[in-house]
Amino acid sequence: MNFKLSEIVGHMKPSEIRELLKYATSNDIVSFGGGMPDPSTFPKKEIREIIDDVIEKNSDQALQYGNTAGLDTLRAELKKFVSRKEGIETDDDKIIVTAGSQQALYAIGRIFTDPGDPIITESPTYVGAVSAFNANAADMIQIRMDENGIVTDEVERRITDLEGKGRKPKFIYVIPNFQNPTGVTLSLDRRKHLLEISENHEIPIVEDNPYGELRYSGSKIPSIKSLDRNGNVIYMGSFSKIMSPGLRLGYIVSSEEVTNTVNLLKQALDLSTNTLSQFIAYEYLKRNIIDRQVPKSIEIYRNKRDVMLASLEKYFSDVGTWTKPEGGMFVWATVKGDINTSKMLMSAVRKGVIYVSGPAFTADNSHTRSMRLNFTFPENEKLIEGIKRLSEVVKAEEAKISNQAENKI
Ligand SMILES: Cc1ncc(COP(=O)(O)O)c(C=O)c1O
Repeated sequence: MNFKLSEIVGHMKPSEIRELLKYATSNDIVSFGGGMPDPSTFPKKEIREIIDDVIEKNSDQALQYGNTAGLDTLRAELKKFVSRKEGIETDDDKIIVTAGSQQALYAIGRIFTDPGDPIITESPTYVGAVSAFNANAADMIQIRMDENGIVTDEVERRITDLEGKGRKPKFIYVIPNFQNPTGVTLSLDRRKHLLEISENHEIPIVEDNPYGELRYSGSKIPSIKSLDRNGNVIYMGSFSKIMSPGLRLGYIVSSEEVTNTVNLLKQALDLSTNTLSQFIAYEYLKRNIIDRQVPKSIEIYRNKRDVMLASLEKYFSDVGTWTKPEGGMFVWATVKGDINTSKMLMSAVRKGVIYVSGPAFTADNSHTRSMRLNFTFPENEKLIEGIKRLSEVVKAEEAKISNQAENKI
């Protein structure tokens, strides 16, 4: 039969990354495409010990349905964790555990926006946020970034302009630390300015911080939520990059009104987040494994970042420019010539290297000359080989374009 799907389905677009992951498993291909942690950073031994203990002592609860808001003990640990790491003072009932911060993004989109409502995001922004906000048919207004993050003067101008047309944005979504996809960090001044804008215009800020713990150089900058005196900031965290993404755990720290409303939505979505995963995360924090584990990941990733940056310097300088992230998982590279990275992708796959092209991170298919390169997943030799291949692909593409131009003359 011809199913008559909802109109909202028409706003969802397939993710280039999901398609690319098919190639990522082939051994000959260097994949800069996914946003995956290095599996050697997974605390396998510790997780096995925790699971053994939990099954022995708490299996009746751990294998049972759980509270929609999340395990009480985990929320109590999270309260301490965000205070210790991010200077965020909150209460257990202002925290809700979610199935990864991806679910948090969908939920926030769902509870704040009606179809067509404007929201402000960075340009480019996290591809999963594009999916989550598209799935709610929100109107993403994307604002330019520079080396200090989203250009807050433009945010303010744009909001004033939208308000003049009776279209107040429902929230401002930012990834302040080592942004996905650019790797750029929002400066302290801009964080303060964003808060000022939020207060003056009464627009909440959604602060998504999955990479905050993964800093390899430079100094930590206070979270926006820790600077917030008026409860304007909705903060999101994730266990994906500091423990394991397969356990699917994230959380929101906000007001009771927000967490209660997300709770209602979760009752419709999944009743509760995976209980066993929550027990694991609770013990991971409680036993303080996290403070031994994350420094190990930082060592590995700092080295990989440096290998990627050195390879770019060596092979890519004549064809493009790139960001130099102080943490996280991504470098954002932009080619100098008039090359469309989406169109170039199949040539890159044939040459044995993949990336995610710039337009995937936008609602308007801009950033056509850019691409996101992940440095945490490939091994060191592959990082070097991949950048070498990439620069050859770009050079071949440049040659193709200039041949075409000559043929036209
Ligand atoms: C900025 C950002 N937010 C949210 C997520 C979703 O993470 P998860 O659902 O694994 O917690 C990611 C994943 O890569 C991300 O980069």
